[in-house]
Amino acid sequence: MKTVKLGNSGISIPVIASGCMRLNGLDHKQAAVYLHKCLDLGIHFFDHSDIYGGGSCEEIFAKALPLTASVREKIMIQSKCGIRPNIGYDFSKDHILSSVDGILKRLGTEYLDVLLLHRPDALMEPEEIAEAFDELEKAGKVRYFGVSNHRTSQICLLKKCVRQALVVNQLQFSITFSGMITEGMEVNMDTRGAADRDGGILDHCRLNDITIQAWSPFQAGSGPGSFIGNEEYGELNRVLRETGERYGVSETAIAAAWILRHPACMQVLAGTTNPDRLEEIAKGADIVLSREEWYRLYLAAGHRLP
Ligand SMILES: NC(=O)c1ccc[n+]([C@@H]2O[C@H](COP(=O)([O-])OP(=O)(O)OC[C@H]3O[C@@H](n4cnc5c(N)ncnc54)[C@H](OP(=O)(O)O)[C@@H]3O)[C@@H](O)[C@H]2O)c1
Repeated sequence: MKTVKLGNSGISIPVIASGCMRLNGLDHKQAAVYLHKCLDLGIHFFDHSDIYGGGSCEEIFAKALPLTASVREKIMIQSKCGIRPNIGYDFSKDHILSSVDGILKRLGTEYLDVLLLHRPDALMEPEEIAEAFDELEKAGKVRYFGVSNHRTSQICLLKKCVRQALVVNQLQFSITFSGMITEGMEVNMDTRGAADRDGGILDHCRLNDITIQAWSPFQAGSGPGSFIGNEEYGELNRVLRETGERYGVSETAIAAAWILRHPACMQVLAGTTNPDRLEEIAKGADIVLSREEWYRLYLAAGHRLP
């Protein structure tokens, strides 16, 4: 499996990661089959959150793949905190610290490789977050820190106080949900695509060695469900199929290759829990689309070029 850098850490991570948000759709046996398939494919990076399945996804993971010392040292585990369902967001020091304790307990591990702040808290106080990160680092509970769904100015605000590098920003991104790229091409136009929705986050991450993790890489974006095989995206599916035939892979692999072709060197967070589908997706890691193929797919998804 090809790799990208985890921020400025010097650590290499697989270009495809396993998103564990839907693990609670599996029983322990099925989860074990899925997780071992990940490892067989070289996908040893797992993304969790304390809210996935209300915490049950982390528990299922730990039951299906017990974290003995030899397993733990071979894999990387990332989790997120800061969302309090039915309440709002909470980046207070107490909440961050207690969330991490809960995550470690459910996973049955002593440390997280990466902790992300899940969604911006309007009441965030960077000083408090900095204290929490220092404490977690000092206690050996978290190795690296990052954010998710954060715009440029919010990362700058955090960096005013946070000492550690922010190595990840997890953002929704797919061939059909690609506003980060569109706004960079429709610059200074009065089109919908020109709207600045994230403060130029794509360039900010590239400039500051923050690895973008693309969440929901196969979801249409405007509602639940994949764009693959979806008749609302007929032209895109036609071009995905045609491109896939050229490389001997599925539409899904090409959709992953489309994300990986971007020079920001993103990591794709695959959310499938189907081992065969994961194998298809992994094939996308070996494909480098030409510039012509990349733009043809972008246009087929219904985007325009100025
Ligand atoms: N930071 C955030 O705010 C945030 C938000 C959402 C998700 N995430 C992370 O991102 C990960 C991925 O998100 P996601 O699950 O929405 O992403 P996804 O990989 O785009 O979607 C996976 C879902 O699509 C289904 N699917 C149907 N056809 C598919 C096809 N041809 N190819 C691939 N999948 C197909 C899968 O079903 P099968 O299982 O049957 O294949 C699965 O239910 C999550 O697990 C989580 O770690 C983060």
